[in-house]
Parts: sequence; C-alpha cells; structure tokens
Amino acid sequence: MLELTMYNNVKIPQIGFGVYQLMRGKTTYDAVLEALADGYRHIDTAKIYGNEKSVGKAIKECGLPREQIFVTTKMWNSDIIARKGKKAFLTSLKKLGLEYVDLYLLHWPVDGYIEAYKTLIELYNEGKIRAIGVSNFLIRHLEEIKKQGLMLPMVNQIEVNPQFSNDELVDYCKKNNIIVESWSPLGGSRHNILDNEVIKHIADIHNVTPSQVVIRWHIDRGLVVLPRSKNPIHIKENFDVEKFSLDEEDMKLMKSLNINIRTGGDPEQYK
Ligand SMILES: NC(=O)c1ccc[n+]([C@@H]2O[C@H](COP(=O)([O-])OP(=O)(O)OC[C@H]3O[C@@H](n4cnc5c(N)ncnc54)[C@H](OP(=O)(O)O)[C@@H]3O)[C@@H](O)[C@H]2O)c1
Repeated sequence: MLELTMYNNVKIPQIGFGVYQLMRGKTTYDAVLEALADGYRHIDTAKIYGNEKSVGKAIKECGLPREQIFVTTKMWNSDIIARKGKKAFLTSLKKLGLEYVDLYLLHWPVDGYIEAYKTLIELYNEGKIRAIGVSNFLIRHLEEIKKQGLMLPMVNQIEVNPQFSNDELVDYCKKNNIIVESWSPLGGSRHNILDNEVIKHIADIHNVTPSQVVIRWHIDRGLVVLPRSKNPIHIKENFDVEKFSLDEEDMKLMKSLNINIRTGGDPEQYK
C-alpha cells in the first residue's frame, strides 16, 4: 500500500476515501464498505458532512481490525468560534463509535483557531488522536502557530487539483515537514476536470483512465489524495493506481493545466 510517514512517525495511507456530500445512511455506509473491500485503509470525514455515524457503522461492520483503518474527522467552524472544541471532538468520537481517531483536523482557520489548536494538542497528549492536523490553513496561519511556540501540525488538508496546483503552500508545507492532503483532487463535483484533453492524452499513453492519471499526479507529487465517489466502479478505479506512474514529460503537461482558480471555499477570507 502507498503510504507516507508523518513527522511523529505515524504512517498515513496515501489514498484516502473522501465522503463529503455522501448522504448519511445507506449511501455513505455502502460507499465506505466498498472502499474498504477494494483496499482503501483511510477514510476522511468531518462533523459538517453529517455522516460520521454511517462511516463508523461501516468501519465496525467491515470485518477489518480497527487499527488497520486510518480515520480522520474535523472540528467544524462553529465549534472553533464557540470555543467548544473538546465537546465537539467527543461528539464526533461517539458518532463514529471509536475510542480514538487517527487524525483530527481544524476544518478552517476561523476566529479562535489557536485556542482550538491547543485543544488538539491536549487530545494528542491524552492519546485520543494519533496525529494533529489543520485544513485550509495558509502560510500566515501556520506561521502564527509557530509564533505561539506550538508544535506544528502533521497535516494540512487543502484544495489541490490540476487547475489549482497550490504550489507555494505545498512547498511551504513540505519544507516544514507537514504532509499535504489534496481535497477536491478531481476538481470536485461541479468542476470535474476529467474531460480535459491533456489528461485524456496522458491516460491513453498509460492505458489508464483520466481519474487514475489525476490521482497518480497527486501521489507522484508526494501528497495524500482523497477522491470521493458513490459509484462502486469509480471507487475501485480510483484506488487502482499502483501499476503505473507519471514521467517527467507527463508531469510537465500536468503542470501546464494550472490556472490558479479554486473550485471551493477561499481561506484568504480568514485573518
Ligand atoms: N477540508 C475541506 O475543506 C474539504 C473540502 C472539500 C473536500 N474535502 C475532502 O476531499 C474529498 C474529495 O473532494 P470532493 O468530494 O470535493 O471531490 P472530488 O473527489 O474531487 O470529486 C468528486 C466527484 O468526482 C466524481 N468521480 C470520482 N471518481 C470518478 C471517476 N473515477 N470517474 C469519473 N468521475 C469520478 C464523483 O462522482 P461519482 O460519485 O459519480 O463517482 C464526484 O462527482 C471530500 O470527499 C472530502 O473528504 C475537504
């Protein structure tokens, strides 16, 4: 299995299954079970997705030992602003039906993020989370954590896809030993980039699908990638990317697709 090692030596599978916009109940449950059966060992959920309970049920019933599955969830903005981080974490844990999560993230750098970050450190010291992370943090937010003398996060989950390669922030994270996770790695549901002619061309060369090219591009950049799908064929396809890799020419072509346009929310709005 493709995996990376965080700076605290905890391993993280490089392909995670995203469950944003998957309806709670049967849709999420079936998709997570399918992903686990196909070999995924990393699930990325969040309080705001409303499906932690269904994710937890699938994890419990899939037949795999808990410690073989890397589970991430996230503290939502309203809990950060209200300084209710600890309570939010315990509620997520209960919904998931777990004793610990592998990675807990602050979803956005909203007002109160330093206090919330200190709560993450407490949870880490108590052994309730195996790694600390943030999401949608820009360089200035990470610098603020440094300025406060706090340990750096092991992970920053940010938007990255071929049309928004986010190079400066990715480079900054790499230099600081922070693993980058790519959200909306395929361009999300509204801006699907899988019809792009350059990507199709690379896919033809390697005899793979456009989605596999894009997922491989994230992997070959050294990032964790979180594709989401409710279609069992797509779920399988997205995990089947170990049989090829992109060469220098492919990477150059992929780089040419960057137009620096986000498909999702913009963290620039947060101080
Ligand atoms: N931290 C954050 O703020 C944040 C924000 C956004 C997302 N995320 C995380 O990142 C994950 C992924 O991002 P995302 O959900 O926005 O979008 P995404 O994974 O970039 O794209 C999902 C879309 O691609 C389609 N798709 C997936 N595999 C495909 C394939 N092989 N062929 C054709 N179409 C395919 C899916 O449709 P089908 O279901 O029909 O396959 C769906 O419409 C989320 O689930 C979540 O875990 C985090």
